[in-house]
Amino acid sequence: METVIALLKDELAAVESQFKKNLASDVKLVSQVGDYVLSSGGKRIRPMLLLLSARLCGYQGDKHIELAGVVEFIHTATLLHDDVVDSANLRRGNRSANSVWGNQASVLVGDFLFAKSFSVMVGSESLRILKILSDTTTQLAEGEILQLINTCDLEVDEPRYLQVVRDKTAILIAAACQVAGVLAGVSDEQELALREFGLEIGTAFQLMDDALDYVADEEDFGKEKGHDLFEGKMTLPLIHAYANSTAAEQEEISRIIDAEELIPEDLDYICNLIEDKDGIAYTYKRAKARIEQAKQHLDIFPDGEARQALFTLADYVVSRNK
Ligand code: IPE
Ligand code: IPE
Ligand code: MG
Ligand code: MG
Repeated sequence: METVIALLKDELAAVESQFKKNLASDVKLVSQVGDYVLSSGGKRIRPMLLLLSARLCGYQGDKHIELAGVVEFIHTATLLHDDVVDSANLRRGNRSANSVWGNQASVLVGDFLFAKSFSVMVGSESLRILKILSDTTTQLAEGEILQLINTCDLEVDEPRYLQVVRDKTAILIAAACQVAGVLAGVSDEQELALREFGLEIGTAFQLMDDALDYVADEEDFGKEKGHDLFEGKMTLPLIHAYANSTAAEQEEISRIIDAEELIPEDLDYICNLIEDKDGIAYTYKRAKARIEQAKQHLDIFPDGEARQALFTLADYVVSRNK
């Protein structure tokens, strides 16, 4: 990944300057909370994908910088809202904004970031890009709502889970790749390939996140271990374990999911069961398959520095521990 970051050094620095500019507000709390989340060590995967896709398509202008900033603003807005919805206390190894400033400030600053994203987007002067990104934010909200509906529902199977993953996470990553193609004016075929590449990467990304929720070192991952279970979230490690459990084990899972509190013994029981039923290995396997699919979508582009860097980023998604 260091090579990718080095390759994009100047452009990433320009994106960071955009953040500063777009966070400016007479209302101090906006810049305070905004600065806090935006300087807290996000991986910047979405901007990197957009910048590399622009390079892959031979884009010569400078609008990709603004748009890379826009996708990270949208991502940050969703995280501010998501941590409220998920009652999360930790984000990127630090206290989440909601636990520092409270839910109200987080929701409202999230709104500011969303609104700002749209005003910057208009600057791209492309109605098509505006349409892609506004459809994306709509679908993203649907994904979070769908997940809310699925809470504690043991009938959620892999296809239903994958629908949530696509909507809440993969769609934005797909849009990041696609809009770079639109900027560069590539063919419909290439634009679609970039979108499909992003969808696969994005899906793998969330699959890994859901596996890491059960197995990652809290310090590396920067989020609380077992938080998905705590929130009653039906993610693939648990779905796979449940589908391969005996009736008695299924009953125990059901009791734990429905309980008011998640006690450490119950978290241990679920973690052991997931291990026993290969829930993590299965999730990794599905994620890796997505990455292979993703790479194939780039077959139609010429090989070179940008395509290799996109492959490196793709591999990073399934090898990360944070
Ligand atoms: C976290 O995304 C939210 C998910 C989609 C799982 P990232 O892991 O990209 O978050 P940062 O920006 O690097 O913190
Ligand atoms: C992240 O969902 C997706 C969005 C923010 C839309 P999660 O709730 O699974 O991500 P983390 O675990 O909080 O990063
Ligand atoms: Mg969350
Ligand atoms: Mg969530």
